[in-house]
Amino acid sequence: MPAADHPWWTRAVVYQVYPRSFQDSDGDGVGDLGGILQRIDHLADLGVDVVWLSPVYPSPQADNGYDISDYQDVDPLFGTLAQLDQLVAALHARGIRLVLDLVVNHTSDEHPWFVESRSSTDSPKRDWYWWRPPRAGMAAGTPGAEPTNWHSHFSGPTWQLDEASGEYYLHLFAAKQPDLNWENPEVRHAVYAMMRWWLDRGVDGFRMDVINMISKAVAPDGSLPDGPQLPGLPYGDGTPFFSNGPRIHEYLQEMHREVFAGHPEQLLLVGEMPGVTTEQARLYTDPARAEVDMVFQFEHVQLDFEGSKWHPRPLRMRDLKASFGRWQAGLADVGWNSLYWDNHDQPRAVSRFGDDSPRFRRDSATCLATLLHLHRGTPYVYQGEEIGMANHPFTALEQFRDVESLNHHVQAVAHGADPAEVLAVLRRMSRDNARTPVQWDASPNAGFTTGTPWIAVNPDHTEWNAQAQRADPTSVFAHHRRLVALRHDLPVVALGDFTMLLPEHDEVYAFTRSLDGDTLLVVCNVSGSVQDLAGLLPEAVDGEVVLGNLPGDDPAVLRPWEARVLRLPSAAPSGGSP
Ligand code: GLC
Repeated sequence: MPAADHPWWTRAVVYQVYPRSFQDSDGDGVGDLGGILQRIDHLADLGVDVVWLSPVYPSPQADNGYDISDYQDVDPLFGTLAQLDQLVAALHARGIRLVLDLVVNHTSDEHPWFVESRSSTDSPKRDWYWWRPPRAGMAAGTPGAEPTNWHSHFSGPTWQLDEASGEYYLHLFAAKQPDLNWENPEVRHAVYAMMRWWLDRGVDGFRMDVINMISKAVAPDGSLPDGPQLPGLPYGDGTPFFSNGPRIHEYLQEMHREVFAGHPEQLLLVGEMPGVTTEQARLYTDPARAEVDMVFQFEHVQLDFEGSKWHPRPLRMRDLKASFGRWQAGLADVGWNSLYWDNHDQPRAVSRFGDDSPRFRRDSATCLATLLHLHRGTPYVYQGEEIGMANHPFTALEQFRDVESLNHHVQAVAHGADPAEVLAVLRRMSRDNARTPVQWDASPNAGFTTGTPWIAVNPDHTEWNAQAQRADPTSVFAHHRRLVALRHDLPVVALGDFTMLLPEHDEVYAFTRSLDGDTLLVVCNVSGSVQDLAGLLPEAVDGEVVLGNLPGDDPAVLRPWEARVLRLPSAAPSGGSP
């Protein structure tokens, strides 16, 4: 098939905006739609094709907007519906599409649906959520009386007792995020109607929050099973019963028919799917099945977990190669990959997988970006990643804002952990690392706000900011711009076959991409020491440099964190051994 016949998103780069930390326009310390409108040229200059906007809907903000109390409006904190319409128009005028965050595994407990559902056991909306009595023979409220033993993603049990009725409701995330019951067709059709309403307003698709959790493995008698006991906690792992559940494909296909049929060509449908395998992803993203266009998988951002994110260990390069290689191969003939390092749920990649010391920060940020963007799939750039933003130097618990981090601290300390050690882990792994304000310039609040920012600005903004980088052709920003342009310009970057080289090598990440006789060799030194390229991949030495992150030097060596994209004269190299 000619390159132009493949869907537009195979050539696209997506930019994620986390609105509360992007740009504040009214001085309340929280970013807003007015702020995004002010900074739109930054996105256009970067050349991205799509903006994915994290939630701006009315919300009590228990999970920064991932707890929605009205799906069809904008929270005054972020602006107005009219401004959202303006944003759609302003982006479209620059050829950029807008994808909204669709959070329909759960609502806020303040959503009128839940308020109604909770009002009485006879409520017509009672069954819109998961209400269950206490465990047989146990009094409501006693520890262990929860209907299942599942552990919440945000610590504690997944069940919250409602004193008035004596029943519990299910919440896979915070207690203020009750799970919708997708078994009930009224729920599904209410969600589809809401989605059509947004498409009619001109939005270009959805990033679907934890969408592979909407189908729960409920037994015919309405019960839900206990999960295997988790080490060191009085809870079990419920994921086998809510992750990729029995009716998930049916729901997604129904959604496709009800909402997307008619314009699937133009839209972008991305499913966030923790715990998804390549085999499942093939099903979710096979165009013939009409479910979603691509999934967000988590394998590569969990390789540095020793059991859980709160027990991090260094990433082993061969694990990363095995994982990325498996995903590239798994979705080579059917489906499509999403490519990301950073988002609002991950600590900053330059600190986590690169080297954010002054000596290597710029080089490792550009090296990681090159490595990612040259894979086959759609790359996602998270705000600030394009200027090399790093983790925040948090020193005290009071500086954290995220419900996941704060709940974890309470639970870990209650179970005997040393508070100083918990703080050290939060410093490294907390989602708040991704949520500090975008660093626009060197002024006191980095140009983010004239007020008091809702979370502290990283003090390194005096050096690391967009204003400085936009003027510098060697900056992280300039490099990202080149990577976006390369994907637009070269069909081989978007569509070429992928072959992993040197799978066991710990310092050099190398692969080829090939399409119609055009072969690119990508070589990235993911270490702080010089690598002998001539010895490893002799064909690289004579390749024509299409893009690199360091100025030309000896073609036979790779300097620390150097990345090069080379065009090979003929067929792909043999490679494949350490
Ligand atoms: C997704 C979001 C995350 C949120 C969670 C619950 O993982 O990306 O930010 O906390 O779902 O909605």
